[in-house]
Amino acid sequence: MTTVFGRPPGLGIGAKPFGDAENHGRAGRARAGFSSGPVTGYAGLVDALSVTEGRLRALLAAGVAVSSELSLDGLLHRLVELAAELTGARYAALGVIDASGSELEQFVTHGVDVETRREIGSLPRGRGILGVLIRDAKPLRLHNLSEDPRSVGFPPAHPPMRSFLGVPILLRGVAYGNLYLTEKEGGEDFTQEDEDLLTLLAGQAAVAIENARLYEASMRWSRQLQSLEEVGNALATETDLERLLDLVVRRLRDLVRARVVAVALPSGEDDLRFAAVAGTDAEELIGETISRSGSKSGKVFERRRSERSDSLIDDPEVHQEVTRRLGVRTGMWVPLIVRERAIGVLEIHDKEGGDGRFSDDDLRLAETFAARAAVAVELSQRVASDALRRVVRAQELERGRLARELHDETGQALTSILLGLKPLEDALAEHPARAALAELREHVVLALQDVRRLAVELRPAVLDDFGLVAALERLTEEFAEQTGIRVDFHSALGEARLPEEVESALYRVVQESLTNIVKHANARSVSISLARRDSTVAAVIEDDGGGFDQRVVREGGVGLLGMRERLALLDGRLEIESRPGAGTTLVAEVPLR
Ligand SMILES: Nc1ncnc2c1ncn2[C@@H]1O[C@H](COP(=O)(O)OP(=O)(O)OP(=O)(O)O)[C@@H](O)[C@H]1O
Ligand SMILES: [Mg+2]
Repeated sequence: MTTVFGRPPGLGIGAKPFGDAENHGRAGRARAGFSSGPVTGYAGLVDALSVTEGRLRALLAAGVAVSSELSLDGLLHRLVELAAELTGARYAALGVIDASGSELEQFVTHGVDVETRREIGSLPRGRGILGVLIRDAKPLRLHNLSEDPRSVGFPPAHPPMRSFLGVPILLRGVAYGNLYLTEKEGGEDFTQEDEDLLTLLAGQAAVAIENARLYEASMRWSRQLQSLEEVGNALATETDLERLLDLVVRRLRDLVRARVVAVALPSGEDDLRFAAVAGTDAEELIGETISRSGSKSGKVFERRRSERSDSLIDDPEVHQEVTRRLGVRTGMWVPLIVRERAIGVLEIHDKEGGDGRFSDDDLRLAETFAARAAVAVELSQRVASDALRRVVRAQELERGRLARELHDETGQALTSILLGLKPLEDALAEHPARAALAELREHVVLALQDVRRLAVELRPAVLDDFGLVAALERLTEEFAEQTGIRVDFHSALGEARLPEEVESALYRVVQESLTNIVKHANARSVSISLARRDSTVAAVIEDDGGGFDQRVVREGGVGLLGMRERLALLDGRLEIESRPGAGTTLVAEVPLR
């Protein structure tokens, strides 16, 4: 070794600095190293030694250069350049092996200009000779690439390449990729020394790649942590549900760099509704519903476990209609969970850049985000329903007050007028104004009826005084009388009163159902029954009218929506069974606590 590293006079560091043009890599190209020819005499030996030393120095310099490069992309480009310089190769490339270990996912080149690269077209995936190195991670030297039986030839427009040297880059014993060199300068073959040098460079490259990867990963994590922190703060301060959901999808989209992010919330018995969507051309999905049993979102909602799919068309659980409309290929689904209960699902599609697939890290990041988002969403849902509950309660109180006022004030005033008319009518029995008086009486009677009806509609006193069953008996009788529709009312509830808000809610549900029947059903008969099942109480309203298609209900109708909201406030639910031409059945169920 001393002959290699020992310095003959005049060839010290001062004489041959790292940046020396002759000895820095290029020197190796000009003259052969050890194994390329016999060394004759002392002068020849000195010459050969200086060449070798120069190349080793260049290698050391390369080591310094690559270890200071922290961007992985920059590093790979620097490596192919250095490999070409060290060995005098015209072309150099670095192929990065994909996760399956059988193909190349990245191919960084040196020596092929942009124009030629474009003409060659798609980059090699790792067949032929490149594949040999992928399967068998050992250095390979060839005199002529095309003559090797394992070669698959070159695509058109590919520059001719003959001499070849390839060495693997091993990270902790696992093949990360390969360095490939072709066309040693002067038409010569690559030498054993080239191979040794390249192997040393590959060793240095491995360490540098590992460092760059760790550095990039730590940078990525610190960036992501920072934005998670920001998101957490933003989520904590936004209480308006709609704005919050919008914030959730937009922030998550930035965070995982996805093309589309949507949040779906449960709606009805078996549906999910897209409450917010972020992504180009994807917003039209907002407000649409999909069935839980027929979608991946629904399955994830029910399983309460996140999932990733690299190919949506091959996944039988995926809602293909949504996939087609969004034009997406991959997806991640993450449930929003609060106290072990799923309250929604985040649906994430197509990673920006690359082939659209998400990594395990992306999924973990989305899960971390979802955990925070879920708490914020649930809180603001609670705030919203508390507000609604207060509104409903205040509304019922106000209606009661108005009803009493109408009854006590306006009703009494009209009754007084009627009473006052009586002596007048008696006194003016034969008077010509008698007819006008009779007409006046008629008006007052009608006005009084209107006032009573309005008062009852607003809030029947009987509901407060005698309870739901009595109030519904009254309501259904009046309904039958006014509309001519037959009504069967049956209660199996007995005498006991129900909690006030349950009575109010069920009364309003039946009231709105009857209004709907008059307005839309064209029914001949209606049956209404109240029953208790275990710890719930249910009202069933069935008509024999025209029915309707629930998927195409008129927009802007607030009746059914109001029923659902009121029942939901009591943790109850509304089920509708209706088909055009087949009548309608509504079941409103409320748990009793
Ligand atoms: N019993 C029924 N028979 C037939 N169609 C019905 C019945 N109940 C509801 N519908 C249909 O469902 C739609 C929605 O009802 P909803 O009560 O929400 O709104 P609306 O009655 O049209 O308006 P609003 O209640 O706001 O005055 C109705 O427009 C109607 O088409
Ligand atoms: Mg209605």
